[in-house]
Amino acid sequence: MAINNKTPIDLSGINVGIIMDGNGRWAKKNHLNVSKGHEQGVETVRQIVERAAKAQLESLSLYAFSTENWSRPKNEILGIKKLIISAINSQVPDLVEQKISLNFFGDFLSFGPKVIQAIEKAQKDTQFNEPNLQLNIALGYGGRADIIQATKLIAEDIMNGNLSTDKISDSTIFDYLSAPIEELDLLIRTGGDHRISNFLLYHLAYTEIQFIETLWPDFNEEEFKSCLQKFLKTERRFGARNI
Ligand code: IPE
Ligand code: IPE
Ligand code: MG
Repeated sequence: MAINNKTPIDLSGINVGIIMDGNGRWAKKNHLNVSKGHEQGVETVRQIVERAAKAQLESLSLYAFSTENWSRPKNEILGIKKLIISAINSQVPDLVEQKISLNFFGDFLSFGPKVIQAIEKAQKDTQFNEPNLQLNIALGYGGRADIIQATKLIAEDIMNGNLSTDKISDSTIFDYLSAPIEELDLLIRTGGDHRISNFLLYHLAYTEIQFIETLWPDFNEEEFKSCLQKFLKTERRFGARNI
């Protein structure tokens, strides 16, 4: 969606992504175990999702666990698995109340049967025809892995005659990628680092990117609101000349 300075404050149709980084450093700063950092991070998710629905965003895509995060200590991963289940149990009723559709993407099958079961039930319980917000959680997601699986599927479809090479366009690629969005309008990364860490690589072509110093558990509604306001003031040129 093209936005300029004259665009009124209206975030409908806007797709926002967040790289929720800084849980570990927040825990360290507060002399707590890393699992407490992740727990506090879940509380931030609840607040930000509520604000996103109120702001009438089209979608909010949250990076919760990357393909590279499997290299973390076993204990931390075990804690994250438990936290996913408890977060789903505690937050799904609120999502239903707010008419928010929840959708997970990435290789969440690698998280085992308990997590899979919780995810499948949560997705089933939160499907609305006209949701107030599409909430997407990237779990076991990697932008490169997504491009690789899309490439394989495209190659198969070409080989079995379901797709012709001259018909491949931007939208074909989006169709084959597993992430449930197309263009991402705004990406926010908390935690002070200026990198993408293998999030939605193909979708970021013209995304506005905001790097925020605040650690994810300290991020709040006010700060999120100012990110959205800053985004609305940005002139997006998409390569065109405007002067
Ligand atoms: C983000 O916080 C959560 C995950 C990647 C699962 P981190 O755990 O990466 O926090 P820092 O970067 O170590 O502070
Ligand atoms: C990015 O954070 C992934 C998520 C927030 C899920 P990381 O902490 O894994 O990223 P790096 O290692 O600092 O690049
Ligand atoms: Mg990190």
